[in-house]
Amino acid sequence: MKLFQPDFLLHGADYNYEQWLDYPEILEEDFRLMRQAQCNVMSIGIFGWAMLEPEEGDFQFDWLDQLMDRLDENGLKAILATPSGAKPVWLAHTYPEIRLVDRNGQRQPQWMRHNHCPTSPIYREKVALINSLLAQRYQHHPALLMWHVSNEYGAHGCHCDLCYAAFRQWLQERYGTLDALNHAWWTTFWSHRYSDWTQIEAVDPSIHALMLDWMRFVNDQVLDFYRAECVPLRELTPETPITTNFMRPNTDLDYWQFAPYVDVVAWDSYPAWHSETDDVAVGVMTGFYQDLHRSYKQRPFLLMESTPSVTNWQGISRPKRPNVHLLSSLQAVAHGSNSVQYFQWRQSRGGQEKFHGAVVSHAGHGRTRVFQDVTDVGQHLAQLADLIPSCNTAEVALIYDLQNEWALELAQLPRSKDKLYQERCIAHYRPFWQMGITVDVIDSVAADFSPYKLLIVPMLYMLREGVAAKMEAFVRQGGTLVVTYLSALVNDSDLAFVGDNPLQSLLGLGVEETDVLFDHNTQAMRPLPDNELGLDGRYPVHHYADIIHLDTARPLAEYENDFYAGQPALAVNEYGDGRAIYLAARPDQRFLTDFYQALSGRLALSRALPTPLPEGVTAQVRRHELSQYLFLMNFQATPQTIDLGQANYQDMLSDQGLTGSLTIPGYGLRILRPQ
Ligand code: GLA
Ligand code: ZN
Repeated sequence: MKLFQPDFLLHGADYNYEQWLDYPEILEEDFRLMRQAQCNVMSIGIFGWAMLEPEEGDFQFDWLDQLMDRLDENGLKAILATPSGAKPVWLAHTYPEIRLVDRNGQRQPQWMRHNHCPTSPIYREKVALINSLLAQRYQHHPALLMWHVSNEYGAHGCHCDLCYAAFRQWLQERYGTLDALNHAWWTTFWSHRYSDWTQIEAVDPSIHALMLDWMRFVNDQVLDFYRAECVPLRELTPETPITTNFMRPNTDLDYWQFAPYVDVVAWDSYPAWHSETDDVAVGVMTGFYQDLHRSYKQRPFLLMESTPSVTNWQGISRPKRPNVHLLSSLQAVAHGSNSVQYFQWRQSRGGQEKFHGAVVSHAGHGRTRVFQDVTDVGQHLAQLADLIPSCNTAEVALIYDLQNEWALELAQLPRSKDKLYQERCIAHYRPFWQMGITVDVIDSVAADFSPYKLLIVPMLYMLREGVAAKMEAFVRQGGTLVVTYLSALVNDSDLAFVGDNPLQSLLGLGVEETDVLFDHNTQAMRPLPDNELGLDGRYPVHHYADIIHLDTARPLAEYENDFYAGQPALAVNEYGDGRAIYLAARPDQRFLTDFYQALSGRLALSRALPTPLPEGVTAQVRRHELSQYLFLMNFQATPQTIDLGQANYQDMLSDQGLTGSLTIPGYGLRILRPQ
């Protein structure tokens, strides 16, 4: 594996050259415009299979040869895709087994994309062949920069016989015996016991452990497919880095398992600016996802796709207001991306995505606002090459666990409405974003907790094997841990813990009941006088309120109302050299802000700037041994003034020296280097 560090910040787009072969003058114009927009890479061939192999075995690489040469002649590099994301029609007709079978046993017609069976040996064979031919042909081509394997893999779940056979095999490896499986899945419930492996089908929503294992299997099968795609690429182009484009977690893939097998993490980001969610909240959310993608490998990543203007799939997608394109593009860089890339270079003329935004619109020239915005980003990136080796480093980590999310989504609870796992993780993240404190967003199993001072664990419903021990070690060695309601209810198999809870001694308390609230119910927490965090006043809570008893923990706040009024709602337990805090109820943002401000002060967490930032403004730092780069970003539409404290800074773009305070325009951004 060759970890990827580019020589320049990448700027480019998905380029569907093959759609325009009948329009030579347009292709000619593309390269002129690419140079003008300061692009240096293009992702190519992603959906090109039908043009590469129009009929079985009839390979036609001329157009791709030409494209690779033209990229090189124009000083651009190729992020060359393997074409498995969309299968050609002839392949789907000749070999129906490659088409996905849905949950009702229906084989899909040849339509759409990203819908092949991940198990089909024929599809794997055809993909291996075309990948080998691509690698053989372009292994020495000067334009080849990186492989873009397939496109946005998803866990769509194919219910064909081949997939079911593989699933049963996977289960046999996991459980060994049917008895072990029946126990782990608790199948005596509703008489679901299996007496033969062949009885197992992945269509029973009442056995949550089955559904969870099915999701794990599908994930593993897609990962296996990806790894099979990589075999000829690694063999023929051992020096060429490989990636695939991840998505914001919504596709039921556990990217923590993919991360070790990509040479650089790449992802596709489509924040909904100017939507029903205010732009500051969109900025926070996007920051969270950027940090997640950096955390997968604890290294700089790539923004593989983003829209230069609008999407055509979000219901309503408004053009970016002035400054927003630069802000949202460099936001990725601020959180550790070494690229800004778009979907798509040129708006296609037909098909589903013809009205999706593009660098070059149907008008076909560079005189549009969008094109100017893109050029502006290109110019900025060209000036920022110094920061390539730098990365963000965190003292705070927040566990956002994808398998936990699957299990929690499946769980039927006394209140199943508004579990809001991702949203609440982002709510816990937001105070740090606002304070300019870097956060790593990590997995409970894959991650090492030891580098951090503060570990935040919202709603870790499924406490997987080994995690309690890691948490204990973390706290024993001096770490501060925050765990919330709805945590540690089940194990890896979604079996409830019986007897003492695995976190009981660490937290120094036990949960007895959970009150769940309708929206019209009123509950609040009141910090106790002289509590060590200096919290004061009244903080409303919603949805979930655990009723707890304390063993060794001390209360910091108590409930205000109802039969459990006066009982603890927030408690701290000294454990080893550290402390574990339990937040028993779901508070609103004001509590989280006050709480994490107090904790950050106590732990002396390092901030990008010593002074508070205006609401909606964040500061993110990338650093390496030699230097630091401070990104100040204003997600408000109005200008904001930032107090720079005592230090002297230099604006990286204008070289201007800065001290005292600085006003940045609405949606503005500045990149400073401390002097
Ligand atoms: C995804 C895909 C692209 C394109 C864009 C549209 O990111 O990878 O092929 O469909 O969405 O936003
Ligand atoms: Zn299948």
